[in-house]
Amino acid sequence: MSKSFLLIVAFTCIVLGLFVGICNYVTQVSGGGGSGGADTGGISAEVGKEIYFGEGQCSTCHKVGGEGSATRCPDHEGVFTTAMNRIKETGESSPLEYLVSSIVEPQAYIVKGFGKIMPKVYNPPILLSQEKILAVLAYLQTLGGEEDIEALMKFKDAIPEGGKGTDEKPWEAPLPADPVAGEKLFFDINGPAGCVKCHTIMNRGNTVCPNLNGIGAVQKPEYFVESILQPSAVIVNGYETVYLVDTDGVPYSGIIKRDTEDEIDLAVDEGGKEISVYTFGKDEIEEMQKQDVSMMPGNFAEMLSTKQLYDIVTFLISQKS
Ligand code: HEC
Ligand code: HEC
Repeated sequence: MSKSFLLIVAFTCIVLGLFVGICNYVTQVSGGGGSGGADTGGISAEVGKEIYFGEGQCSTCHKVGGEGSATRCPDHEGVFTTAMNRIKETGESSPLEYLVSSIVEPQAYIVKGFGKIMPKVYNPPILLSQEKILAVLAYLQTLGGEEDIEALMKFKDAIPEGGKGTDEKPWEAPLPADPVAGEKLFFDINGPAGCVKCHTIMNRGNTVCPNLNGIGAVQKPEYFVESILQPSAVIVNGYETVYLVDTDGVPYSGIIKRDTEDEIDLAVDEGGKEISVYTFGKDEIEEMQKQDVSMMPGNFAEMLSTKQLYDIVTFLISQKS
């Protein structure tokens, strides 16, 4: 082997080595590369707030004081302070840990008075990535506490990677279903479904019962199947059925739509094409109690064919905004 060949090899190595060295240096200086474990690039309360009111869909169900209008779920104003009180019951060691588990295992602890409807936001349809969930948590920290990314990063591994929905198979209707047929059934007050009698969707319908605008962006197909076939399994907060007997001994059962110091309005389903609303003076009420049965009819399993059921479910899935 010639001496000049060895020299060339040595020279090439030195040049390559220098090049790699410079590259490393440049990446470190510019903060890229992700090494060192403290890469918190996209994670901040500011980014988190945008996700909360945007693709995270949190504001479809929650509001934060005066921001947002959703009422079916707890108000997140001061949620970090709320979390300090919750841990007395749940046994977590810090409010942050409570907030993390509220998102990772939403059904592990249910806030009193609310239904089990919070989805796993790292699964379909919301599909938030780990990084985005961390950002949302940073935002929640600022609601009653202070942003502390370092404390937050300790929980990184407890949060699923998400974003791909890898831990669940994509849902498929057990038979070919048609969302257009589902839409017709939803709005047909003379048909076997007649959902429009109680619900609004696509900004049309009755507002007595939960607003279903954009529901396909937050809930899974399985949730819709359950909501239709077993409405009493989960009762949405604010839509509990109330049993009332007036001073003449007449019983009513419905949803409270207005409750003032001396009157209440009760929306009652009497089986017709419209929901009736009765106003009672508080002094006309003999007895009143909440019930565990939904006002939503419990007999859709008999009323709808399997095809009709899945037509409606695929219609609900298609409602993304
Ligand atoms: C489909 C409605 C829905 C969506 C969407 C939703 N949540 Fe919830 N969430 C609920 C309900 C209902 C509760 C109360 C019942 C419970 O504890 O699970 C709740 C509870 C919580 C709690 C506990 C609150 C407390 O007072 O203890 C936190 C924190 C929370 N949600 C965060 C989020 C975040 C962050 C998002 C968005 C990434 C989100 N939720 C999206 C329905 C929802
Ligand atoms: C007589 C009124 C009534 C009719 C008719 C009715 N619902 Fe409901 N629905 C309710 C009430 C009340 C609730 C809230 C209580 C509960 O959770 O069961 C509800 C809840 C729901 C929910 C859960 C909403 C949420 O915010 O998570 C879905 C989904 C739903 N209904 C779909 C339907 C569909 C689809 C139809 C037609 C096949 C239908 N409903 C017909 C009264 C009705």
